Amino acid sequence: MSCPHLPPGFDFTDPDLLRSRVPLPEFAEARRTAPVRWVPQQRGIAGFDDEGYWAVTRHADVKYVSTHPELFSSYTNTAIIRFNESIHRDQIDAQRLIMLNMDPPEHTRVRQIVQRGFTPRAIRSLEGALRTRARAIVEAAAAEAGARGGTFDFVTRIAVELPLQAIAELVGVPQEDRARIFDWSNKMAAYDDPEYALTEEVSTEAAMEIVAYAMNLAAARKECPAQDIVSRLVAAEDQGNLSNDEFGFFVILLAVAGNETTRNAISHGMHAFLTHPDQWELYKRERPATAAEEIVRWATPVVSFQRTATRDVELGGQKISAGDRVGIFYSSANHDPEVFDGPGRFDITRDPNPHLGFGGGGPHFCLGKSLAVLEIDLIFQAIADALPDLRPAGEPRRLRSAWINGIKELPVRHEPR
Ligand code: HEM
Repeated sequence: MSCPHLPPGFDFTDPDLLRSRVPLPEFAEARRTAPVRWVPQQRGIAGFDDEGYWAVTRHADVKYVSTHPELFSSYTNTAIIRFNESIHRDQIDAQRLIMLNMDPPEHTRVRQIVQRGFTPRAIRSLEGALRTRARAIVEAAAAEAGARGGTFDFVTRIAVELPLQAIAELVGVPQEDRARIFDWSNKMAAYDDPEYALTEEVSTEAAMEIVAYAMNLAAARKECPAQDIVSRLVAAEDQGNLSNDEFGFFVILLAVAGNETTRNAISHGMHAFLTHPDQWELYKRERPATAAEEIVRWATPVVSFQRTATRDVELGGQKISAGDRVGIFYSSANHDPEVFDGPGRFDITRDPNPHLGFGGGGPHFCLGKSLAVLEIDLIFQAIADALPDLRPAGEPRRLRSAWINGIKELPVRHEPR
């Protein structure tokens, strides 16, 4: 199969390419010339025969794949497209215990249970505590910046903190255990990046430690229920409940899905404000409720996910065969000019904003969307109050990853007027 106008061997999931420029300019080319195209990979995922994937780049097609789980399964293969890596079959089997990699009806059962922890009421009940935490995080960064001549790293001082705190708050992790959860979450994320010198073993071990911790927490809450999500998910008698193992794998998903994503939305949001000072002035003046969604469109922290065709199917004029891997590229969809007026413009008043940063609207649509939007709102409100005059103090350093659009360092300067 040919890939018009793209160099031979070009792969949209190459972590080195993604580190240098997201959204890849090649997405525009792909949407124009072959919006569903076959991308050969040098090596398939170990244990599978496939040697490439279909790259789906248009907004409409990403939505179509996401909303037809009977045609495009989340189960048959891992959810994430890996580039040139040897993932083993037993790891993929373990991933199937995570709801992201389940299909209906199994997925529907788990989703109905966990949704109870994410109702608008449950999220609203966290708002007061998270507002206080957001203020404390930003005020601590401001105080430290004052003491250190004004310059600091936005990612480690600000962006990392609230998502971790929010998940600990949501799950009801006791204060004294939070440092351990933070450490495990960080080890699990981003081992693609050699700079962190994390091996896959360290990362897997951290994941297993989180599962064990969460299973113990579930057992303790079953015996002695508290007012938290754990108690609600494991102890509900009437509508079914999660087993301790299922709860363990759910917490691990939260630690991955809720952390890196929100952290990078916040970091990219700050970078976008620093490079679009007119939008920052507007934000400080009016604090539009539309800002958080535009930040997520602009950042698109999850570049892509993967499905597998369950039968022969036609999409975008291409014949996809049963068993083929299909990559859905949210970062391309979010810049599709068919849907967005001036997609290259960062516009915090954009409305409507039908971006696919939280997924294409199918059964796996982001469970934590309301929480993420709340966190982004709260942190930028706190920054507008306590650090309104941040300036860039160097180029951001980007994460090397096959699927996360990440910033690992963003030097900023606090210059009070
Ligand atoms: C699923 C993005 C924050 C929990 C997803 C998906 C995306 C996504 C793209 C997959 C959708 C699909 O396959 O159709 C994001 C972004 C976030 C964010 C960009 C922040 C800006 C969070 C937070 C939580 C969370 C804060 C929870 C604390 C989940 C869960 C799933 C999910 C549990 C799996 C849902 C399922 O399989 O049914 N997210 N997410 N996410 N997200 Fe998020």
